[in-house]
Amino acid sequence: MSENIDYDAIDIYAPAPTTEPERQYYFIAKCRNIVQKKIIETGTPMKMAIQTFGCQMNAHDSEKIEGMLTGMGYTISPDHDEKSADIIVYNTCCVRENAENKVYGNLGFLKHFKQEKPDMKVILCGCMMQQDIVLSKIRKAYRHVDIVFGTFNLYKLPELLYTNFESNSRIYDIWEEQKEIVEDLPSVRQYPFKASVNIMFGCNNFCSYCIVPYVRGRERSRTPSDIIEEVKSVVATGALEVTLLGQNVNSYGNDLDESITFAKLLRMINEVEGLERIRFMTSHPKDLSMDLIEAMRDCDKVCNHLHLPFQSGSTDILTKMNRKYSKEKYLELIQNIQKEIPNIHITTDIIVGFPSETEEDFEDTLDVVKAVRFSGAFSFLYSKRTGTPAAVMEEQIPPEVTKDRFGRLMQTLNPILYDLHHAHIGHTYTVLAESFNEKDHMLTGRLTDNSIVHFVGDECCIGTIMNVNIIDCKTFYLTGEIV
Ligand code: 5AD
Ligand code: SF4
Repeated sequence: MSENIDYDAIDIYAPAPTTEPERQYYFIAKCRNIVQKKIIETGTPMKMAIQTFGCQMNAHDSEKIEGMLTGMGYTISPDHDEKSADIIVYNTCCVRENAENKVYGNLGFLKHFKQEKPDMKVILCGCMMQQDIVLSKIRKAYRHVDIVFGTFNLYKLPELLYTNFESNSRIYDIWEEQKEIVEDLPSVRQYPFKASVNIMFGCNNFCSYCIVPYVRGRERSRTPSDIIEEVKSVVATGALEVTLLGQNVNSYGNDLDESITFAKLLRMINEVEGLERIRFMTSHPKDLSMDLIEAMRDCDKVCNHLHLPFQSGSTDILTKMNRKYSKEKYLELIQNIQKEIPNIHITTDIIVGFPSETEEDFEDTLDVVKAVRFSGAFSFLYSKRTGTPAAVMEEQIPPEVTKDRFGRLMQTLNPILYDLHHAHIGHTYTVLAESFNEKDHMLTGRLTDNSIVHFVGDECCIGTIMNVNIIDCKTFYLTGEIV
Protein backbone atom coordinates (compact mmCIF):
# COMPACT_ATOMS: atom_id res chain seq x y z
CA MET A 1 0.00 0.00 0.00
CA SER A 2 0.91 3.65 -0.34
CA GLU A 3 2.44 3.92 3.18
CA ASN A 4 5.38 1.81 2.05
CA ILE A 5 6.44 3.67 -1.07
CA ASP A 6 10.17 4.28 -1.22
CA TYR A 7 10.30 7.49 -3.25
CA ASP A 8 14.09 7.56 -3.12
CA ALA A 9 14.16 4.31 -5.08
CA ILE A 10 12.27 5.86 -8.03
CA ASP A 11 14.43 6.80 -11.04
CA ILE A 12 13.52 10.47 -11.52
CA TYR A 13 15.55 10.72 -14.75
CA ALA A 14 13.56 7.95 -16.49
CA PRO A 15 10.53 8.97 -18.60
CA ALA A 16 7.33 9.58 -16.61
CA PRO A 17 5.10 6.48 -16.26
CA THR A 18 1.78 6.75 -18.11
CA THR A 19 -0.34 4.85 -15.55
CA GLU A 20 -1.74 6.16 -12.24
CA PRO A 21 -0.87 6.33 -9.41
CA GLU A 22 2.70 5.39 -10.51
CA ARG A 23 2.93 8.62 -12.52
CA GLN A 24 2.22 10.71 -9.40
CA TYR A 25 4.65 8.67 -7.27
CA TYR A 26 7.27 9.59 -9.91
CA PHE A 27 6.40 13.32 -9.64
CA ILE A 28 6.44 13.11 -5.83
CA ALA A 29 9.99 11.76 -6.16
CA LYS A 30 10.93 14.59 -8.56
CA CYS A 31 9.51 17.24 -6.19
CA ARG A 32 11.27 15.50 -3.31
CA ASN A 33 14.56 16.06 -5.07
CA ILE A 34 13.80 19.80 -5.40
CA VAL A 35 12.56 20.09 -1.80
CA GLN A 36 15.65 18.31 -0.45
CA LYS A 37 17.93 20.71 -2.35
CA LYS A 38 16.06 23.68 -0.85
CA ILE A 39 16.36 22.22 2.66
CA ILE A 40 20.13 21.86 2.20
CA GLU A 41 20.42 25.38 0.71
CA THR A 42 18.50 27.11 3.52
CA GLY A 43 19.34 24.77 6.39
CA THR A 44 15.67 24.81 7.48
CA PRO A 45 12.83 22.34 6.93
CA MET A 46 10.29 23.09 4.16
CA LYS A 47 6.93 23.58 5.84
CA MET A 48 3.32 23.09 4.69
CA ALA A 49 0.08 24.58 6.00
CA ILE A 50 -3.19 23.02 4.87
CA GLN A 51 -6.53 24.67 5.63
CA THR A 52 -9.68 22.67 5.09
CA PHE A 53 -13.10 24.22 4.66
CA GLY A 54 -16.34 22.23 4.67
CA CYS A 55 -17.30 18.63 5.16
CA GLN A 56 -15.66 15.34 6.14
CA MET A 57 -15.14 14.53 2.46
CA ASN A 58 -12.89 17.60 2.19
CA ALA A 59 -11.13 16.75 5.46
CA HIS A 60 -10.35 13.33 4.01
CA ASP A 61 -9.11 14.86 0.73
CA SER A 62 -6.78 17.01 2.82
CA GLU A 63 -5.31 13.84 4.37
CA LYS A 64 -4.39 12.77 0.83
CA ILE A 65 -2.90 16.20 0.08
CA GLU A 66 -0.83 15.94 3.26
CA GLY A 67 0.22 12.40 2.26
CA MET A 68 1.51 13.60 -1.12
CA LEU A 69 3.32 16.67 0.30
CA THR A 70 4.84 14.58 3.11
CA GLY A 71 6.21 12.22 0.44
CA MET A 72 7.88 15.25 -1.16
CA GLY A 73 9.64 16.07 2.12
CA TYR A 74 7.46 18.88 3.48
CA THR A 75 6.73 18.91 7.22
CA ILE A 76 3.68 20.38 8.92
CA SER A 77 4.10 23.99 9.98
CA PRO A 78 3.39 24.23 13.77
CA ASP A 79 -0.38 24.82 14.13
CA HIS A 80 -0.51 25.11 10.32
CA ASP A 81 0.98 28.61 10.69
CA GLU A 82 0.81 30.18 7.24
CA LYS A 83 3.35 32.95 7.69
CA SER A 84 6.22 30.54 8.15
CA ALA A 85 4.98 28.00 5.58
CA ASP A 86 6.67 27.34 2.23
CA ILE A 87 3.53 25.87 0.71
CA ILE A 88 -0.06 26.76 1.61
CA VAL A 89 -3.07 24.76 0.46
CA TYR A 90 -6.69 25.89 0.82
CA ASN A 91 -9.05 23.00 0.26
CA THR A 92 -12.26 24.93 -0.32
CA CYS A 93 -16.02 24.44 0.11
CA CYS A 94 -18.87 26.21 -1.68
CA VAL A 95 -21.95 24.67 -0.04
CA ARG A 96 -22.75 27.99 1.65
CA GLU A 97 -21.68 31.53 0.88
CA ASN A 98 -19.88 32.15 4.19
CA ALA A 99 -17.39 29.32 3.45
CA GLU A 100 -16.49 31.07 0.19
CA ASN A 101 -16.15 34.49 1.80
CA LYS A 102 -13.69 33.10 4.34
CA VAL A 103 -11.44 31.83 1.54
CA TYR A 104 -11.42 35.22 -0.19
CA GLY A 105 -10.66 36.93 3.12
CA ASN A 106 -7.74 34.60 3.87
CA LEU A 107 -6.38 34.96 0.34
CA GLY A 108 -6.20 38.72 0.89
CA PHE A 109 -3.89 38.15 3.88
CA LEU A 110 -1.71 35.71 1.95
CA LYS A 111 -0.90 38.43 -0.60
CA HIS A 112 1.22 40.19 2.06
CA PHE A 113 2.97 36.98 3.16
CA LYS A 114 3.83 36.21 -0.44
CA GLN A 115 5.26 39.70 -0.99
CA GLU A 116 7.65 39.08 1.90
CA LYS A 117 8.43 35.53 0.76
CA PRO A 118 8.05 35.25 -3.04
CA ASP A 119 9.10 31.55 -3.10
CA MET A 120 6.02 30.60 -1.05
CA LYS A 121 3.58 28.48 -3.09
CA VAL A 122 -0.15 29.12 -2.78
CA ILE A 123 -2.45 26.31 -3.92
CA LEU A 124 -6.26 26.38 -4.14
CA CYS A 125 -8.34 23.26 -4.66
CA GLY A 126 -11.71 21.70 -3.84
CA CYS A 127 -15.34 22.47 -4.60
CA MET A 128 -15.12 26.27 -5.03
CA MET A 129 -12.67 25.84 -7.87
CA GLN A 130 -15.22 23.96 -9.99
CA GLN A 131 -17.18 27.18 -10.54
CA ASP A 132 -16.35 29.45 -13.49
CA ILE A 133 -17.20 32.67 -11.62
CA VAL A 134 -14.75 31.77 -8.86
CA LEU A 135 -11.99 30.95 -11.34
CA SER A 136 -12.27 34.23 -13.20
CA LYS A 137 -12.28 36.16 -9.92
CA ILE A 138 -9.11 34.39 -8.79
CA ARG A 139 -7.38 34.90 -12.14
CA LYS A 140 -8.09 38.64 -11.98
CA ALA A 141 -7.94 39.59 -8.32
CA TYR A 142 -5.68 36.99 -6.68
CA ARG A 143 -2.65 36.77 -8.94
CA HIS A 144 -0.49 35.48 -6.07
CA VAL A 145 -2.15 32.06 -6.37
CA ASP A 146 0.26 29.59 -8.01
CA ILE A 147 -1.79 26.45 -8.61
CA VAL A 148 -5.52 25.79 -8.91
CA PHE A 149 -7.12 22.40 -9.35
CA GLY A 150 -10.58 20.99 -8.71
CA THR A 151 -12.34 18.01 -7.16
CA PHE A 152 -11.74 15.52 -9.99
CA ASN A 153 -7.96 15.74 -10.28
CA LEU A 154 -6.69 16.06 -6.72
CA TYR A 155 -4.42 13.09 -7.37
CA LYS A 156 -2.48 15.21 -9.93
CA LEU A 157 -1.10 17.61 -7.29
CA PRO A 158 2.48 16.22 -7.58
CA GLU A 159 2.56 16.64 -11.37
CA LEU A 160 1.10 20.18 -11.18
CA LEU A 161 3.52 21.26 -8.46
CA TYR A 162 6.50 19.88 -10.36
CA THR A 163 5.38 21.75 -13.52
CA ASN A 164 5.10 24.93 -11.45
CA PHE A 165 8.59 24.43 -9.94
CA GLU A 166 10.00 24.05 -13.46
CA SER A 167 8.10 26.84 -15.23
CA ASN A 168 7.36 29.18 -12.34
CA SER A 169 4.11 30.02 -14.15
CA ARG A 170 0.58 29.93 -12.75
CA ILE A 171 -1.21 26.64 -13.33
CA TYR A 172 -4.98 26.16 -13.60
CA ASP A 173 -6.14 22.59 -14.16
CA ILE A 174 -9.91 22.13 -13.79
CA TRP A 175 -11.79 19.15 -15.18
CA GLU A 176 -15.49 18.99 -15.98
CA GLU A 177 -15.81 15.39 -14.89
CA GLN A 178 -13.95 12.49 -13.30
CA LYS A 179 -11.87 10.48 -15.77
CA GLU A 180 -10.87 7.68 -13.39
CA ILE A 181 -10.82 6.87 -9.67
CA VAL A 182 -7.16 6.71 -8.73
CA GLU A 183 -6.55 4.25 -5.90
CA ASP A 184 -3.61 4.02 -3.48
CA LEU A 185 -2.78 7.68 -3.04
CA PRO A 186 -0.53 8.29 -0.07
CA SER A 187 -2.42 9.70 2.90
CA VAL A 188 -1.59 10.99 6.38
CA ARG A 189 -4.43 10.24 8.77
CA GLN A 190 -5.38 13.02 11.16
CA TYR A 191 -5.94 10.40 13.87
CA PRO A 192 -4.18 7.03 13.92
CA PHE A 193 -7.10 5.37 15.73
CA LYS A 194 -9.87 6.37 13.32
CA ALA A 195 -10.04 6.70 9.57
CA SER A 196 -12.34 7.97 6.85
CA VAL A 197 -12.82 5.76 3.82
CA ASN A 198 -14.51 7.00 0.64
CA ILE A 199 -16.99 4.49 -0.70
CA MET A 200 -18.30 6.71 -3.48
CA PHE A 201 -17.91 10.18 -4.96
CA GLY A 202 -20.43 12.63 -6.41
CA CYS A 203 -24.19 12.94 -6.19
CA ASN A 204 -27.12 12.40 -8.57
CA ASN A 205 -29.84 13.97 -6.46
CA PHE A 206 -29.88 17.63 -7.43
CA CYS A 207 -31.65 18.95 -4.34
CA SER A 208 -32.69 22.36 -5.64
CA TYR A 209 -30.64 24.39 -3.11
CA CYS A 210 -27.44 22.38 -3.39
CA ILE A 211 -24.31 23.06 -5.43
CA VAL A 212 -22.64 19.69 -4.70
CA PRO A 213 -23.80 17.78 -7.83
CA TYR A 214 -22.40 20.59 -10.00
CA VAL A 215 -18.98 20.58 -8.36
CA ARG A 216 -18.50 16.91 -7.48
CA GLY A 217 -20.13 15.31 -10.54
CA ARG A 218 -22.26 12.17 -10.85
CA GLU A 219 -22.13 9.19 -8.49
CA ARG A 220 -19.12 6.91 -8.85
CA SER A 221 -18.77 3.96 -6.46
CA ARG A 222 -15.48 2.34 -5.56
CA THR A 223 -15.43 -1.42 -5.87
CA PRO A 224 -16.15 -3.42 -2.69
CA SER A 225 -12.73 -5.09 -2.96
CA ASP A 226 -10.88 -1.72 -3.06
CA ILE A 227 -12.94 -0.53 -0.06
CA ILE A 228 -12.38 -3.69 1.99
CA GLU A 229 -8.68 -3.63 1.19
CA GLU A 230 -8.45 -0.03 2.41
CA VAL A 231 -10.42 -0.82 5.58
CA LYS A 232 -8.08 -3.74 6.33
CA SER A 233 -5.08 -1.55 5.68
CA VAL A 234 -6.23 1.25 8.04
CA VAL A 235 -7.03 -1.35 10.72
CA ALA A 236 -3.56 -2.87 10.25
CA THR A 237 -2.10 0.58 10.97
CA GLY A 238 -4.11 1.15 14.15
CA ALA A 239 -7.62 2.30 13.23
CA LEU A 240 -10.38 1.01 15.54
CA GLU A 241 -13.11 3.05 13.86
CA VAL A 242 -13.89 3.78 10.21
CA THR A 243 -16.31 6.32 8.79
CA LEU A 244 -17.56 5.40 5.33
CA LEU A 245 -18.02 8.53 3.24
CA GLY A 246 -20.36 9.32 0.35
CA GLN A 247 -22.81 12.14 -0.45
CA ASN A 248 -25.58 9.53 -0.42
CA VAL A 249 -24.29 6.16 0.77
CA ASN A 250 -27.70 4.56 0.21
CA SER A 251 -27.20 4.56 -3.54
CA TYR A 252 -23.79 2.91 -3.21
CA GLY A 253 -23.21 0.34 -5.94
CA ASN A 254 -25.99 1.46 -8.31
CA ASP A 255 -23.37 2.36 -10.90
CA LEU A 256 -21.28 -0.82 -10.52
CA ASP A 257 -21.55 -3.93 -12.72
CA GLU A 258 -21.44 -6.29 -9.76
CA SER A 259 -24.55 -6.71 -7.64
CA ILE A 260 -23.84 -4.87 -4.39
CA THR A 261 -25.78 -2.56 -2.07
CA PHE A 262 -24.69 -0.43 0.86
CA ALA A 263 -26.39 -2.92 3.21
CA LYS A 264 -24.27 -5.76 1.78
CA LEU A 265 -21.14 -3.64 1.97
CA LEU A 266 -21.80 -2.91 5.66
CA ARG A 267 -22.15 -6.62 6.37
CA MET A 268 -18.83 -7.28 4.58
CA ILE A 269 -17.00 -4.54 6.49
CA ASN A 270 -18.47 -5.81 9.77
CA GLU A 271 -16.41 -8.98 9.23
CA VAL A 272 -13.05 -7.15 9.17
CA GLU A 273 -11.05 -8.45 12.12
CA GLY A 274 -9.65 -5.86 14.53
CA LEU A 275 -12.17 -3.22 13.50
CA GLU A 276 -14.37 -2.10 16.42
CA ARG A 277 -16.66 0.64 15.11
CA ILE A 278 -18.27 1.52 11.79
CA ARG A 279 -19.86 4.89 11.07
CA PHE A 280 -21.13 6.27 7.79
CA MET A 281 -22.44 9.47 6.30
CA THR A 282 -24.59 10.69 4.64
CA SER A 283 -27.89 8.86 4.11
CA HIS A 284 -30.67 10.30 1.98
CA PRO A 285 -34.11 9.44 3.44
CA LYS A 286 -35.62 8.80 -0.01
CA ASP A 287 -33.74 5.55 -0.42
CA LEU A 288 -32.88 4.27 3.02
CA SER A 289 -33.99 0.67 2.58
CA MET A 290 -35.34 -1.86 5.08
CA ASP A 291 -32.31 -3.96 4.08
CA LEU A 292 -30.02 -1.26 5.40
CA ILE A 293 -31.96 -0.88 8.65
CA GLU A 294 -31.66 -4.65 9.16
CA ALA A 295 -27.94 -4.59 8.36
CA MET A 296 -27.46 -1.81 10.93
CA ARG A 297 -29.42 -3.82 13.48
CA ASP A 298 -27.48 -7.04 12.81
CA CYS A 299 -23.92 -5.72 12.49
CA ASP A 300 -22.42 -5.41 15.96
CA LYS A 301 -19.71 -2.97 14.85
CA VAL A 302 -22.10 -0.47 13.27
CA CYS A 303 -22.50 2.41 15.71
CA ASN A 304 -25.76 3.19 17.39
CA HIS A 305 -26.18 6.39 15.40
CA LEU A 306 -27.74 7.48 12.13
CA HIS A 307 -27.29 10.86 10.47
CA LEU A 308 -30.44 11.37 8.41
CA PRO A 309 -30.87 14.94 7.09
CA PHE A 310 -34.52 15.97 6.71
CA GLN A 311 -33.85 19.62 5.67
CA SER A 312 -37.47 20.78 6.15
CA GLY A 313 -40.59 19.41 7.82
CA SER A 314 -42.96 20.88 5.25
CA THR A 315 -43.99 18.55 2.43
CA ASP A 316 -44.52 21.55 0.20
CA ILE A 317 -40.99 22.86 0.80
CA LEU A 318 -39.56 19.32 0.47
CA THR A 319 -41.18 19.12 -2.98
CA LYS A 320 -39.62 22.45 -3.95
CA MET A 321 -36.30 21.18 -2.59
CA ASN A 322 -36.62 18.11 -4.86
CA ARG A 323 -36.10 15.82 -1.86
CA LYS A 324 -38.61 13.16 -3.04
CA TYR A 325 -40.18 12.38 0.36
CA SER A 326 -42.92 13.96 2.47
CA LYS A 327 -43.07 14.89 6.15
CA GLU A 328 -45.17 11.76 6.79
CA LYS A 329 -42.77 9.46 4.89
CA TYR A 330 -39.81 10.80 6.90
CA LEU A 331 -41.61 10.25 10.21
CA GLU A 332 -42.66 6.75 9.12
CA LEU A 333 -39.07 5.93 8.23
CA ILE A 334 -37.90 7.11 11.66
CA GLN A 335 -40.54 4.89 13.30
CA ASN A 336 -39.31 1.86 11.31
CA ILE A 337 -35.74 2.56 12.33
CA GLN A 338 -36.61 3.08 16.00
CA LYS A 339 -38.66 -0.13 16.00
CA GLU A 340 -35.72 -2.23 14.76
CA ILE A 341 -33.01 -0.39 16.72
CA PRO A 342 -34.72 1.01 19.84
CA ASN A 343 -31.80 2.98 21.31
CA ILE A 344 -30.57 4.53 18.11
CA HIS A 345 -29.55 8.18 18.19
CA ILE A 346 -30.60 10.16 15.16
CA THR A 347 -28.94 13.39 14.02
CA THR A 348 -29.93 15.56 11.11
CA ASP A 349 -29.38 18.61 8.88
CA ILE A 350 -31.98 21.39 8.73
CA ILE A 351 -32.24 24.38 6.39
CA VAL A 352 -34.17 27.43 7.57
CA GLY A 353 -35.48 30.09 5.20
CA PHE A 354 -35.69 28.18 1.92
CA PRO A 355 -37.47 30.37 -0.71
CA SER A 356 -41.22 30.70 -0.05
CA GLU A 357 -41.01 29.05 3.42
CA THR A 358 -44.07 30.28 5.34
CA GLU A 359 -44.59 30.37 9.10
CA GLU A 360 -46.69 27.16 8.76
CA ASP A 361 -43.90 25.45 6.78
CA PHE A 362 -41.43 26.38 9.50
CA GLU A 363 -43.78 25.05 12.19
CA ASP A 364 -43.77 21.72 10.32
CA THR A 365 -39.98 21.72 10.76
CA LEU A 366 -40.39 22.31 14.51
CA ASP A 367 -42.99 19.50 14.56
CA VAL A 368 -40.52 17.01 13.10
CA VAL A 369 -37.84 18.12 15.57
CA LYS A 370 -40.23 17.46 18.47
CA ALA A 371 -41.52 14.16 17.07
CA VAL A 372 -38.14 12.61 16.27
CA ARG A 373 -36.20 14.06 19.21
CA PHE A 374 -32.87 14.41 17.40
CA SER A 375 -29.75 14.02 19.48
CA GLY A 376 -27.89 16.48 17.28
CA ALA A 377 -28.55 18.75 14.33
CA PHE A 378 -26.56 20.87 11.92
CA SER A 379 -28.87 23.81 11.27
CA PHE A 380 -28.21 26.19 8.40
CA LEU A 381 -29.57 29.49 7.19
CA TYR A 382 -30.52 28.96 3.56
CA SER A 383 -27.72 30.29 1.35
CA LYS A 384 -28.38 31.21 -2.26
CA ARG A 385 -26.02 29.32 -4.59
CA THR A 386 -25.74 30.66 -8.13
CA GLY A 387 -26.49 27.96 -10.68
CA THR A 388 -28.95 26.01 -8.51
CA PRO A 389 -32.72 26.06 -9.26
CA ALA A 390 -33.54 27.56 -5.83
CA ALA A 391 -31.37 30.62 -6.52
CA VAL A 392 -33.87 31.87 -9.10
CA MET A 393 -37.02 30.95 -7.16
CA GLU A 394 -39.30 33.80 -6.28
CA GLU A 395 -40.04 34.74 -2.65
CA GLN A 396 -36.54 34.62 -1.20
CA ILE A 397 -37.01 35.04 2.57
CA PRO A 398 -35.76 38.26 4.23
CA PRO A 399 -32.70 37.64 6.45
CA GLU A 400 -34.41 38.94 9.61
CA VAL A 401 -37.24 36.39 9.22
CA THR A 402 -34.75 33.56 8.63
CA LYS A 403 -32.69 34.58 11.67
CA ASP A 404 -35.76 34.74 13.89
CA ARG A 405 -36.81 31.23 12.80
CA PHE A 406 -33.28 29.97 13.32
CA GLY A 407 -33.35 31.23 16.92
CA ARG A 408 -36.67 29.50 17.54
CA LEU A 409 -35.32 26.30 16.03
CA MET A 410 -32.43 26.37 18.54
CA GLN A 411 -34.90 26.95 21.39
CA THR A 412 -36.76 23.80 20.30
CA LEU A 413 -33.72 21.64 19.61
CA ASN A 414 -31.55 22.42 22.62
CA PRO A 415 -33.85 21.23 25.45
CA ILE A 416 -34.28 17.94 23.55
CA LEU A 417 -30.50 17.52 23.26
CA TYR A 418 -30.22 18.22 26.99
CA ASP A 419 -32.93 15.67 27.87
CA LEU A 420 -31.34 12.96 25.72
CA HIS A 421 -27.96 13.64 27.27
CA HIS A 422 -29.49 13.69 30.75
CA ALA A 423 -30.89 10.18 30.22
CA HIS A 424 -27.29 8.89 29.97
CA ILE A 425 -26.50 9.83 33.59
CA GLY A 426 -25.81 6.81 35.77
CA HIS A 427 -25.13 4.51 32.81
CA THR A 428 -21.81 3.11 31.65
CA TYR A 429 -20.80 3.17 27.98
CA THR A 430 -17.85 2.25 25.81
CA VAL A 431 -15.99 5.38 24.75
CA LEU A 432 -13.24 5.83 22.18
CA ALA A 433 -10.88 8.41 23.70
CA GLU A 434 -9.88 10.84 20.96
CA SER A 435 -8.05 13.81 22.52
CA PHE A 436 -6.50 15.13 25.73
CA ASN A 437 -6.53 18.62 27.21
CA GLU A 438 -3.30 19.35 29.09
CA LYS A 439 -4.83 22.23 31.05
CA ASP A 440 -7.51 20.25 32.88
CA HIS A 441 -6.22 16.69 32.26
CA MET A 442 -9.49 15.74 30.62
CA LEU A 443 -9.87 13.20 27.86
CA THR A 444 -12.58 13.69 25.23
CA GLY A 445 -14.20 10.78 23.45
CA ARG A 446 -17.36 9.58 21.79
CA LEU A 447 -20.00 7.03 22.72
CA THR A 448 -21.16 4.83 19.86
CA ASP A 449 -24.29 7.02 19.67
CA ASN A 450 -21.94 9.90 18.79
CA SER A 451 -22.40 11.81 22.09
CA ILE A 452 -19.26 13.62 23.23
CA VAL A 453 -17.99 12.90 26.73
CA HIS A 454 -15.25 14.58 28.80
CA PHE A 455 -13.60 12.60 31.62
CA VAL A 456 -10.45 12.74 33.72
CA GLY A 457 -7.76 10.41 32.42
CA ASP A 458 -4.29 9.99 31.09
CA GLU A 459 -2.99 11.12 27.71
CA CYS A 460 -1.80 7.59 26.98
CA CYS A 461 -5.46 6.47 26.80
CA ILE A 462 -5.95 8.32 23.49
CA GLY A 463 -6.96 5.82 20.84
CA THR A 464 -8.29 3.21 23.27
CA ILE A 465 -11.84 2.13 23.96
CA MET A 466 -12.73 2.33 27.64
CA ASN A 467 -15.77 2.06 29.90
CA VAL A 468 -16.98 5.41 31.17
CA ASN A 469 -19.76 6.06 33.68
CA ILE A 470 -21.73 9.21 32.91
CA ILE A 471 -22.09 11.52 35.89
CA ASP A 472 -23.35 14.83 34.48
CA CYS A 473 -24.27 16.63 31.30
CA LYS A 474 -24.68 19.94 29.50
CA THR A 475 -26.66 20.57 26.30
CA PHE A 476 -23.81 19.59 23.98
CA TYR A 477 -21.71 17.14 26.00
CA LEU A 478 -21.57 14.63 28.84
CA THR A 479 -19.08 14.33 31.68
CA GLY A 480 -18.06 11.00 33.13
CA GLU A 481 -15.46 8.95 34.95
CA ILE A 482 -13.50 5.88 33.92
CA VAL A 483 -14.93 2.71 35.44
N1 5AD B 1 -27.97 26.62 2.02
C1 5AD B 1 -27.95 26.15 3.29
N2 5AD B 1 -27.61 24.90 3.61
C2 5AD B 1 -27.24 24.07 2.61
N3 5AD B 1 -26.85 22.79 2.61
C3 5AD B 1 -26.58 22.42 1.34
N4 5AD B 1 -26.79 23.44 0.51
C4 5AD B 1 -27.22 24.49 1.27
C5 5AD B 1 -27.61 25.82 0.98
N5 5AD B 1 -27.62 26.29 -0.25
C6 5AD B 1 -26.79 21.98 3.83
C7 5AD B 1 -27.78 20.81 3.78
C8 5AD B 1 -26.87 19.62 3.61
C9 5AD B 1 -25.63 20.08 4.35
C10 5AD B 1 -24.39 19.34 4.04
O1 5AD B 1 -25.50 21.43 3.96
O2 5AD B 1 -28.46 20.76 5.02
O3 5AD B 1 -27.42 18.44 4.17
FE1 SF4 C 1 -26.60 18.07 -2.01
FE2 SF4 C 1 -28.91 16.71 -1.98
FE3 SF4 C 1 -26.69 15.57 -3.03
FE4 SF4 C 1 -26.88 15.95 -0.38
S1 SF4 C 1 -28.19 14.61 -1.60
S2 SF4 C 1 -25.09 16.42 -1.70
S3 SF4 C 1 -28.01 17.88 -0.25
S4 SF4 C 1 -27.77 17.37 -3.82
